[in-house]
Amino acid sequence: MDETLFGELKRYVDWSAGDEQALRDLHQVAAPRFPRIADVFYARILSHEGARRSLTGGESQVGHLRQTLQAWLDRLLAGPWDEAYFEARCRIGRYHVRIALPQHYMFGAMNVIRRELNAVVDEHYLARPEALEATRVALGKILDLELAIMLHTYREDLLAQQARAERLSTFGQLVGSIGHDLRNPLGVIETSLFILKGRIGEDERARKHADRIGEQLAVANGIIGNLLDMIRNRPLARVRVPLEPVLRGVAEAVRRPPEVELQLEGLGGLPDVMGDALQLRQVFVNLLDNAVQAAAPAGRVRVEARQAGEDGVEVAVEDSGPGVDEQVRRRLFEPLITTREKGNGLGLALVKRIVDRHGGAVTYDPRPGAGARFVVTLPTR
Ligand code: HEM
Repeated sequence: MDETLFGELKRYVDWSAGDEQALRDLHQVAAPRFPRIADVFYARILSHEGARRSLTGGESQVGHLRQTLQAWLDRLLAGPWDEAYFEARCRIGRYHVRIALPQHYMFGAMNVIRRELNAVVDEHYLARPEALEATRVALGKILDLELAIMLHTYREDLLAQQARAERLSTFGQLVGSIGHDLRNPLGVIETSLFILKGRIGEDERARKHADRIGEQLAVANGIIGNLLDMIRNRPLARVRVPLEPVLRGVAEAVRRPPEVELQLEGLGGLPDVMGDALQLRQVFVNLLDNAVQAAAPAGRVRVEARQAGEDGVEVAVEDSGPGVDEQVRRRLFEPLITTREKGNGLGLALVKRIVDRHGGAVTYDPRPGAGARFVVTLPTR
């Protein structure tokens, strides 16, 4: 039978029956310490501002995870370390991929476990140096295997993303040529509409329909503009851009029902960001337009800007809508992913692309029980 991935990994670390026995023996003495190890583990996550951000479920989630970590420790030392073990560990790895937990935190987190379990080993095997050495070696192997499995699940995800990117690149070329081809007929329609409008005279209904055609032409042109922006690298200007007029202009420009209240906060006194004013405007038009749509027919949209550290500005756009479902969040910034009935799935992809090209970042900041919140960080240098 072909060797499985887990079999290969075990062979690489020279996994042996002796390691299994050493871990089972350690299990006997370490089990009473599991609750304490789980406490230290989550205290460390909670004390780190970046890692903490991944724990969005509050107290009850931490309580649940404390329990599941103890079950994880139990299986870690008691085995059996078979294919079912590998599958179960992959499932756990995918939990972390799903919540987009940056993989570098895994090393820090595993180190906490390594240290805590090594402390038990040192204490218990103090008088038996050979057993101490054998147990440390076995522990090192299994924790390395655990990290390897975690990285494997991130790699799986990366490969899936690459496959999607390749599909999109072929698709992008197609879309680009269709976009170009549609520009001409739309231009002709626009010119003809202009001429017709001049001849409609007093016919109210005809005028209304002509206006409607005009509006829909603008929508179609907007979609094509977004599509073409997505696939071509428009050169990026790099000048000082004061964000206040950009954000105020966007607030004026985005259509909003009167029952959707808009608040702008912290705009005064911001340092200029470095970038392309037109493209940055596009970022905030797309975010604000989404927020207004999410809050409609009645609700609230808040834009809050502030200086972030020494060389950044952070702009948060939040709404009182339903928020973004956890399943969709991971792929939120990919093209063609939309939750809106009339959305084309390009708005946020374009936001990300422009912000990335500015050397900034855009993230979705989950607010349990509240609406969506997007945070854009842009460099001032
Ligand atoms: C050695 C490293 C880690 C281990 C062994 C581990 C273990 C686990 C386990 C066993 C689960 C599954 C819980 C269940 O069955 O419901 C889980 C889920 C989770 N872990 Fe970890 N974890 C590690 C690192 C981290 C870090 C560093 C964070 C955050 C900074 C984190 C945050 C979470 C969250 C939020 C979930 C829940 C995911 C969901 O609800 O879909 N984990 N983890």
